[in-house]
Amino acid sequence: MNHPLLSSRSSVTALLLLLPLLSAFSFAAGDDVTCLHELKNSLQDPEGYLNSWDFSNTTEPGFICRFTGVFCWNAIENRVLGLDLQDFSMKGKIPKSLHLCHSLQILNLGGNSLSGDIPAQICTWLPYLVTLDLSHNSLSGSIPQNVANCTYLNSLVLDDNKLSGSIPDELLKLQRLRKFSAANNNLSGRIPPFRHDMKLNFSGNGNLCGWPLREC
Ligand SMILES: *[C@@H]1O[C@H](CO)[C@@H](O)[C@H](O)[C@H]1NC(C)=O
Ligand SMILES: *[C@@H]1O[C@H](CO)[C@@H](O)[C@H](O)[C@H]1NC(C)=O
Ligand SMILES: *[C@@H]1O[C@H](CO)[C@@H](O)[C@H](O)[C@H]1NC(C)=O
Ligand SMILES: *[C@@H]1O[C@H](CO)[C@@H](O)[C@H](O)[C@H]1NC(C)=O
Repeated sequence: MNHPLLSSRSSVTALLLLLPLLSAFSFAAGDDVTCLHELKNSLQDPEGYLNSWDFSNTTEPGFICRFTGVFCWNAIENRVLGLDLQDFSMKGKIPKSLHLCHSLQILNLGGNSLSGDIPAQICTWLPYLVTLDLSHNSLSGSIPQNVANCTYLNSLVLDDNKLSGSIPDELLKLQRLRKFSAANNNLSGRIPPFRHDMKLNFSGNGNLCGWPLREC
């Protein structure tokens, strides 16, 4: 028997073209739920800030959009635009599950007690980030070159951590970057020649030189 949809060659082609698109969309939405679920499981949350993150009934579209600190693209779709988890007293490492929040534009994890490295793939995971704030944590290691893959990045705030090493020259590729602040870390070496109209703050580092600090 011939299904009406499959009766002509062109509709078969249309269907074949459409199917991956449709499944990409449905996977994308489910991914964001998994992203937040795993995020909650992987972070220690001694003050219970994430108590509103309840995954026991996942049927209602957009249910994650009412969670504390979660901002969605629209209220009836499980697609996260921003995560503002500032000052939540959370401990742990920056979770890998973030790569499932692929549409994320704003990530603020400032003012927690996060430790470990800034993930080396952070901007492969989250290529659409516009704002990244990881300040006031206990992050160590160096600033990954991969941050240069966040093409849309406007604001990068890394103050008050334990970051060391030099500031990667690759960050000069970020044409939209207007604010880059990494005060009070342990960075060293020469500051790449950023545009002078940017808001920069590198005070309180071990051995940095170059504008806007002392000459090298
Ligand atoms: C899950 O949520 C939906 C929509 O809010 C509701 O209709 C349904 O009764 C809930 N199911 C359970 C088991 O609570
Ligand atoms: C983005 O990442 C890829 C793979 O990690 C790398 O080859 C490429 O140079 C990066 N782009 C920028 C602008 O750093
Ligand atoms: C600061 O970084 C240097 C390497 O650049 C390292 O030797 C030193 O131990 C670091 N200091 C602290 C307090 O982390
Ligand atoms: C740079 O950061 C330090 C430490 O957080 C702060 O005290 C200082 O006011 C900042 N400077 C500017 C120009 O914002």
